[in-house]
Amino acid sequence: MSSSQGTCVCIDAGSQFCPCVLADLGECVACSLLKGEDLCDCSWSGVCIYSEWLWAGRRPLPPRPEFELPLIQIDSGSNTLAVFTVEIPGGLAGDVSAIGAFLFLRPPGTRQCFNTPVSLMDIHGCRARFSVQIVGPKTKALARSSGVLLARGPYWNGIWGVQRLRNLRDSRALIVAKGIGQGPAVHVAGSLIGGGNSVTVAFTPSESIPFVFVEKDLRGVGASLVPLDGGGGEMERSLAGMIGDFDLVHSSGPDTQHRMIMRLIRQASPRTKFTASNNSVMCCGDGVCGGCGVSTKTNHWTRACKASVNPEQVSLLNEEELWHDA
Ligand SMILES: Cc1cc2nc3c(=O)[nH]c(=O)nc-3n(C[C@H](O)[C@H](O)[C@H](O)COP(=O)(O)OP(=O)(O)OC[C@H]3O[C@@H](n4cnc5c(N)ncnc54)[C@H](O)[C@@H]3O)c2cc1C
Ligand code: FES
Repeated sequence: MSSSQGTCVCIDAGSQFCPCVLADLGECVACSLLKGEDLCDCSWSGVCIYSEWLWAGRRPLPPRPEFELPLIQIDSGSNTLAVFTVEIPGGLAGDVSAIGAFLFLRPPGTRQCFNTPVSLMDIHGCRARFSVQIVGPKTKALARSSGVLLARGPYWNGIWGVQRLRNLRDSRALIVAKGIGQGPAVHVAGSLIGGGNSVTVAFTPSESIPFVFVEKDLRGVGASLVPLDGGGGEMERSLAGMIGDFDLVHSSGPDTQHRMIMRLIRQASPRTKFTASNNSVMCCGDGVCGGCGVSTKTNHWTRACKASVNPEQVSLLNEEELWHDA
């Protein structure tokens, strides 16, 4: 029997990595037939994963490779922040440009346990940037890298509700960015503006990175910037007053910020769509280690690196307080 219950759309479905080893093990996130059930109850609208499995000779496709990315420079904004500029090979550039993309990065000469999930900040041609908050062993080791970075990927489930961002056109979006969430916000803003949307970015105060390091980049992609001053109550009131002006709000920050914004949306503007950075602890990224397990409203347990669900479906975020004041 499968360890997780129910199915949901897998972020890798239809990609060059599907079907993966989970299909072989009867643990596919999306396909009930590959979980050994008799009936298909999947909600994937692309090419049937079970058929892909049969066409592949009942064998998983090769897993994600590891690349050596030439390291062009490391900019240290402070002792808690490093921005890495690397060269990206042509084959990987298109895949990491997708909204929600991230790589597992580690310095050369380290073991696999140093792999650190890091979201794309931006990419121009074959040059990409990643911003990293230096917090513990893996990120401290990354900051000491020289020559090349080892990168496994591409991975795509860095955002809950990513399909809402991918499908947004000619709309008004607000990005609320906090701390290191500013880096991935640059990529989200650029992608949304590329899709014909207008983007406003509001910064919420952060103790760990108490400065804005992406102002030039955001202005460069055409986003408008709004500082949110004041403490918790005042900042929440400012956000509550703004939210109704937007079709979508994206939270790029900690889960506490996600919860606060979801509550404000429900109170002030229920029609506004919501998306949020996926802050799960990820080790393998391939649905195997189980480190990223989350409960969802429709599945008892699933893998946050694979399951493509909207933020309000993640039980992690549905704390009691959230539903009490609904
Ligand atoms: C999809 C995704 C994208 C991310 N993008 C970025 C980014 O662009 N920039 C950035 O600075 N950070 C990002 N992170 C978080 C980053 O991976 C962690 O801060 C890093 O792994 C911490 O490792 P450490 O050994 O330095 O610190 P530790 O002391 O081990 O941990 C410090 C904090 O980081 C969390 N953490 C530790 N290991 C992981 C892990 N494997 N996965 C996720 N969180 C972990 C811990 O729960 C703790 O809260 C991202 C995480 C995910 C899941
Ligand atoms: S990170 Fe290993 S199962 Fe998701």
